[in-house]
Amino acid sequence: MTKVGIAGIGFMGWIHWLAYQELPDVEVVAIATPEAERRAGDWSGIQGNFGPPGTQVDLSGVRTYENLEAMLADADLEVDCIDICLPPAMHCEAIQAAAKAGKHVFCEKPLALNLRDCDTAVATCNEHNRQLMVGQVLPYFTEFQYARELIASGEYGNLLGGSFKRVISDPQWLTKFYDPDVIGGPLFDLHVHDAHFIRLLFGMPTGVYSCGRLRGEVVDYCNSIFRFEDSNLAVTCTCGVINQQGRPFTHGFEIHLDQATIQFDFQAFADAPESMPLKVLTKDGKVLRPELGDGDPVFAFKREIKEVTQAIAENRPSAILNGALARDGIQICQMQSEAVKSGQFVSANDVAGD
Ligand SMILES: NC(=O)c1ccc[n+]([C@@H]2O[C@H](COP(=O)([O-])OP(=O)(O)OC[C@H]3O[C@@H](n4cnc5c(N)ncnc54)[C@H](O)[C@@H]3O)[C@@H](O)[C@H]2O)c1
Repeated sequence: MTKVGIAGIGFMGWIHWLAYQELPDVEVVAIATPEAERRAGDWSGIQGNFGPPGTQVDLSGVRTYENLEAMLADADLEVDCIDICLPPAMHCEAIQAAAKAGKHVFCEKPLALNLRDCDTAVATCNEHNRQLMVGQVLPYFTEFQYARELIASGEYGNLLGGSFKRVISDPQWLTKFYDPDVIGGPLFDLHVHDAHFIRLLFGMPTGVYSCGRLRGEVVDYCNSIFRFEDSNLAVTCTCGVINQQGRPFTHGFEIHLDQATIQFDFQAFADAPESMPLKVLTKDGKVLRPELGDGDPVFAFKREIKEVTQAIAENRPSAILNGALARDGIQICQMQSEAVKSGQFVSANDVAGD
């Protein structure tokens, strides 16, 4: 039985809790959160933009602490993994504290808000021989998982490239969204999902062209073209905030293979969601419409957390959630940020961790 302690009971702490309840061989044995009512089991104030609303939870048998430091200081607590659902600016310090205390770490995305902190977090977990996994959940979203597995099967040949999209309207409830030192803005909070997915599918870009708008110190919206060692790969991405509340969220992709194109688009309009379900358009003229079932994001978190618990039980790095890949995702975001600000092509070598 893998024992987990969750640090930070907000939107993600709640979604992770729900996933743990449905998995065998894993048990949440502790939580740490500053809100007294949540330590008493009243999670009804928790809100997010998907999943069920927070409710009363039964915390019998679960130890509660005001913060992560107190949890780690409890010599009587037996815990294998710390699940960090704290705000991004706290991730690096929390990861280090958990690893130094001998715990495996599962940390929500983004790994950190800059490359230096990512490198520190990865190095500390390596030094202490602890697994570091980062909640880059996108590869577990139904359509993204299907695309990933179809590509890996080799059925339609090699990757040629693709285009990716992730656009929201202003997240008015996140008052620090544009603060580079707290949430990091659209690239580090939002696009980091596609940055990681692009890294996973195509390898590490050697550089990026990116044009767009700044809001304050951070990129608000941009279009990016990625370069790879294989110069035949053509990969682009659109991401950021367009300030219309009529469409709070959209994402999608078109992925090109030798023998097929995989296409998917989802739009959360303010009145109702609309999806263009995933299709596989084949070279020989077929339009395949695979039956993928419910695309509820909560299922993606269950699949992600299943991988976390299995990787810990088997003490192996996760091929998808490992800290090094998440670190590369942040490097990609940093490259794009520099490219928008400078108006120049930015190579991976131009963006260092120190
Ligand atoms: N994977 C996804 O799709 C997804 C979606 C939303 C959020 N996230 C990520 O999850 C993380 C948490 O986001 P959230 O939406 O759950 O935030 P939240 O604000 O709902 O919850 C954060 C929790 O951390 C606690 N906290 C805040 N400041 C603290 C402090 N100084 N000391 C101790 N605890 C403190 C809060 O009290 C709260 O319990 C972020 O990194 C965010 O980017 C990921």
